[in-house]
Amino acid sequence: MSIIIPPLPRSTRVNAGGHLEVGGCDVAGLAGEFGTPLFIYDEQEIRSRCREYRRAFESRAEGARIIYASKAFACLALFQLMAEEGLSLDVASGGELFTALSAWFPPEEIFLHGNANTRDELHQAVRNEVGHVVLDSLDELGVLDEVAAQAGRIQPVLLRVTPGIEAHTHDYIQTGKQDSKFGFTLSEDAALAAVKAAMAAAHLELMGLHCHIGSQIFSMEPYRKTAAVIADFMAQCREQLGFECRLLDMGGGLGIAYTADDQPPSVADYAEAVTSAVAAETRRAGLELPRIAVEPGRSIVANAGLTAYEIETIKSIPGVRKYAAVNGGMSDNLRPALYGAAYTALIASRPEAAPTETVTIAGKHCESGDILVKDAPLPDPAPGDILVTPATGAYGYSMASNYNGQPRPAVVFVRDGNARVVIRRETYEDLIRLNERSQ
Ligand code: LLP
Repeated sequence: MSIIIPPLPRSTRVNAGGHLEVGGCDVAGLAGEFGTPLFIYDEQEIRSRCREYRRAFESRAEGARIIYASKAFACLALFQLMAEEGLSLDVASGGELFTALSAWFPPEEIFLHGNANTRDELHQAVRNEVGHVVLDSLDELGVLDEVAAQAGRIQPVLLRVTPGIEAHTHDYIQTGKQDSKFGFTLSEDAALAAVKAAMAAAHLELMGLHCHIGSQIFSMEPYRKTAAVIADFMAQCREQLGFECRLLDMGGGLGIAYTADDQPPSVADYAEAVTSAVAAETRRAGLELPRIAVEPGRSIVANAGLTAYEIETIKSIPGVRKYAAVNGGMSDNLRPALYGAAYTALIASRPEAAPTETVTIAGKHCESGDILVKDAPLPDPAPGDILVTPATGAYGYSMASNYNGQPRPAVVFVRDGNARVVIRRETYEDLIRLNERSQ
């Protein structure tokens, strides 16, 4: 039997025992074996998304590059998978770069981003010969040129521009508008001056431009507008500076379904919108078509992941609300507290049972705002039940914390009925590992 709820991986079934099954594994069984809270990823689902992305873009734009934005979820096993699937990698810090290199990710396929990279981080990137550094400021440009000179390397770079486009998404994850801490604004010719400076830098080779207008975007219109604005800028660069943009990175941001109400565009729709807009706009501006890159994070891993918790307590406030509190919360999923993000919930041992009541799923942290799911219809939830929140594969583990002394959960990959731990559960010892005792 299969249940079709959009936010779950396609392998999701209800097995003979009436339990929720993902990747051929019984979710309640996984919770028993590996403990809770537990992040569960369907490995095949991630691979299919990678392939879907490659097919959609490579069939529409020659030499297109899919760069996985590792801030959505980063670990060695995932990076190994990404290398096998032929994706490139966007890393946003020295730590993500270190993780990628530790997974033997090909350095030439790595793009280092960041609006405040330290000299050490830039040195680490240059020393390891990462493919591209995406420049965010003139200060960084100067330091990177020096660092590359010291290392005797010509470092390929892209330049991040802010196209001044407002995407309809949460304010905190809008990045392309004029007032942004990221990149060079096109107004006042700041971006033009930066292109000039990058071209003049002896140890940098400017390959192209980068932009990222925001995240969890459902409308393709902002991407089309961005392509138009960037094409105009490319024309200006060619005319005034003789600069040809060879690689145009349009960033990430494709939205996903967190609940059945969300209807995001398909990867194919997104690829069609981006590639046709870039092709049309560059043609209009009389330019050569650059290679196109995109940097999806969420839309590759979010729906492949789910979280299993144990319900610990139930509290009823007659006439007001019923709470079910679980053994995790904002320490493993900050998104509801930070963005008011909506999730759904189901019970692993009876996913298809008819709901009997509406319950709010609370986390275990000492904050009233630590609510994971508001008003979830559930069938008689009780302490000991394994509660599952779908679509937690992106920005869950990567934004996890040890708030209230909560060890970070384990992460397992499931596939064909087998589960393997890719990140072990933190222990209490880990919590004090870096502490020094007073004498
Ligand atoms: N490229 C750049 C330069 C980015 O800053 C981001 C996301 C991406 C690509 C990937 O975007 P995606 O395809 O995943 O939407 N913590 C927030 C999201 C912040 C995204 C930051 N940048 C959340 O939980 O929704």
